[in-house]
Order: sequence, then structure tokens, then C-alpha cells
Amino acid sequence: MRELADNIMDIAQNSISAGASLTEVNVKVSQQDNLITLTFRDNGCGMSAEMVKSVTEPFTTTRKTRKVGLGLPLLQQTAMMTGGEMKIESQVGKGTCVTASFGSDHIDRPPMGDVAGAWFSLVVMNPDTDFLFQYDFDGKVFTFDTREIRAAVDPLPLNHMEISAWIKDCMYQEIKELHGGIVL
Ligand SMILES: Nc1ncnc2c1ncn2[C@@H]1O[C@H](COP(=O)(O)OP(=O)(O)OP(=O)(O)O)[C@@H](O)[C@H]1O
Ligand SMILES: [Mg+2]
Repeated sequence: MRELADNIMDIAQNSISAGASLTEVNVKVSQQDNLITLTFRDNGCGMSAEMVKSVTEPFTTTRKTRKVGLGLPLLQQTAMMTGGEMKIESQVGKGTCVTASFGSDHIDRPPMGDVAGAWFSLVVMNPDTDFLFQYDFDGKVFTFDTREIRAAVDPLPLNHMEISAWIKDCMYQEIKELHGGIVL
């Protein structure tokens, strides 16, 4: 089964492919609003308005000249299935912001899955780019900024064995603490 954490990996990977040097990934859980929101913001190459339109309409577009991927359409479909929505704001040369919201208690909402694992994989697979991760669980916030870690461990790389082990522990522990035993 596809989990939200898989979408996180997928969509953040788009930012890496777009040449982003900084990618922000935000997970926001509001139990009061019955909402889970994922936000991805990057300083990569961006997309034209036409491109934004075509990536969200892959099944209706008549263009056959270009391969159209499935990451964004799947995210959009999942969001809409749960009564949420996906939005893309992008500017060529500046960057992209993708937001997807999900109705938390909707029967079709995929489980959250292993967000710590997804974040960790993104860091060790892309040790030379920076990430700003934020997990907001009902207002309790965990922030992880690879720029800070990078400065602290310089000249060692983020995927150095002991450093990556620490990053992994930190992410799992902090997110677990935020959830306080609540499985989403
Ligand atoms: N953050 C981004 N910055 C710039 N371009 C993007 C970004 N995200 C998506 N795109 C563009 O939109 C296209 C479609 O993205 P999507 O994730 O739907 O599919 P894909 O990445 O091409 O393939 P797949 O995710 O299925 O492997 C990408 O190929 C890319 O050209
Ligand atoms: Mg993709």
C-alpha cells in the first residue's frame, strides 16, 4: 500500500531533480481541523505555467510528445480522494512550492507511514544538498535543518556513518515523541 511517506520521497525527489540546493519538506497534522498537510518548497529550476498545468492534467492532455510522470498526479488524486487538494506554485528560475492536503479521518487517506525513514533516506541519498524538515503535530513542532548539522560536523559529510546514524535516531525519536503514541 502507498503511504504518505512514499509521496514525500517522490515529491522531494522532484526538487532534487530540479537542481534545488535547498528543499523544505513540511508535515503538518491538525487533529482539530482533521487535516494533514504536506508542503514542499524548493529553489530549483521551477516550471512554466504551461508545465504546471500539464503535470496536473496528465490523463486529459492530448500532448503525446513528452513523457509525463506520475508523482504529482498521484499526489493530487490521493489528496482529492480524501476531500483535500493539491496546489502548485512555481516560477521558472526561482523554485516551486507544492502543497497537498488530506482529510485525516477519510477512509481513503493513506497511512502516514515512515516519515522519519523518508527524510533520513533523502539526506543520505543527497548528502550535498540541504533540507529543512518540519513536523508540526497539533502545534508541537520538530525542525531539522541540514545546514546546521553540516556546519557542526564540517568537514565530514552528512552520510558519514556515525553522523547519519545520529540523524536517523534523532528523526525517529523526535517524531515518535510528537505523536505521543497516536498512529496516523
Ligand atoms: N519541484 C519541481 N521543480 C521543477 N520541475 C518539477 C518539479 N516537480 C515536478 N517538476 C516537473 O514536472 C514533471 C512531472 O513530475 P512528476 O513527479 O509528476 O513526474 P516525474 O518526476 O517526471 O516522474 P515520476 O515521479 O513518475 O518518476 C517532472 O518531470 C518535472 O519536469
Ligand atoms: Mg517525480
